[in-house]
Amino acid sequence: MRILSGVQPSGKLHLGNYFGAIQQHVQLQDGPGHECYYFIADYHALTTTHDRAQLRENVHDVAVAYLALGLDPKRTVFYRQSDVPEVQELAWMLASVTGVGLLERAHSYKDKVARGIVPRVGLFYYPVLMAADILMVDADLVPVGQDQVQHVEMTQDMAQSFNAAFDTEALRRPEWKLSPTPKVQGTDGEKMSKSYGNTIEIFAEGKPLKKSVMGVVTRPIDLGQPLPIENDTVLALYRLFASEAEMAAMEADYRAGSIGYGDAKKQLLARIDAQFAPARERRNELLRDPSLVEDVLSDGARRAREVAHEVVERCREATGLLKRPV
Ligand code: ADP
Ligand code: TRP
Repeated sequence: MRILSGVQPSGKLHLGNYFGAIQQHVQLQDGPGHECYYFIADYHALTTTHDRAQLRENVHDVAVAYLALGLDPKRTVFYRQSDVPEVQELAWMLASVTGVGLLERAHSYKDKVARGIVPRVGLFYYPVLMAADILMVDADLVPVGQDQVQHVEMTQDMAQSFNAAFDTEALRRPEWKLSPTPKVQGTDGEKMSKSYGNTIEIFAEGKPLKKSVMGVVTRPIDLGQPLPIENDTVLALYRLFASEAEMAAMEADYRAGSIGYGDAKKQLLARIDAQFAPARERRNELLRDPSLVEDVLSDGARRAREVAHEVVERCREATGLLKRPV
């Protein structure tokens, strides 16, 4: 089974990104017969980032983060989207069979327009490029967050429109897969997101990490009083790290009033710190050797282009475009 997913190179990664996306990406590498293709969506990032130094830094940061968190470049094809320009050619072929109405129904596009963003063509076209990312490697499965499910459904539509329009089987229909934790809460109890300023960063340590964890919003309850279990952000975050037995013990302490929020947060902090310590170390090593990361990405691009080339040729053939002279 072929699995593909893309990540936007946008800023510092947080626990929402880890439990909502990265962890599942890394685990899927272990499935029998799984061939994973993961890439950094830098073409997509151009719809929002117009600062070349920032873009390069963000791409490098995400690459380092994935490698530190367990992406294995021997088993997985890991590349930068813009190193595989075949995707643009496939996107154009898809655009030629895609109704404007389909793109106008995209939630993420509509939300941005509703927030007053004056849309550029690239923002509107975003789902077409995303469909090309997926279809270009004949992906069977696309692990995504809730916010991206509709884009994968649009990809299914585009594949079908293409196959119907050109009476072909050239494109394979992909399915989406949600992560087991599609909504991680931020320090204020809302969905964790860098746009809400409520994140706990994966690679934070020391004082900054302590500051974000101790800043988790809790109820005003005196020490020694029982603490409610329901809708408690500290517990929700602790659940991501604790075993069932540890979770039950923490809940029992809450009920008995034998723990205060301060101590509960300290336990959470210790778990976060311990879980990511090895990844932090690997990341520091990778940061010292940028050429190693570049080598991984160029090898990934070479492998992705082989597959992309085949799919694009199949589609050119289906449309009547001629085989490209070499
Ligand atoms: P942000 O909301 O911080 O801008 P992104 O949109 O860049 O995050 O998120 C990239 C991916 O990480 C999303 O597609 C989703 O899969 C996952 N993700 C982000 N925030 C969360 C969250 N709070 N809970 C679960 N998954 C999340
Ligand atoms: N749009 C995705 C996001 O914002 C990133 C992405 C681009 C992607 N192309 C993709 C995800 C293809 C899955 C498959 O998170």
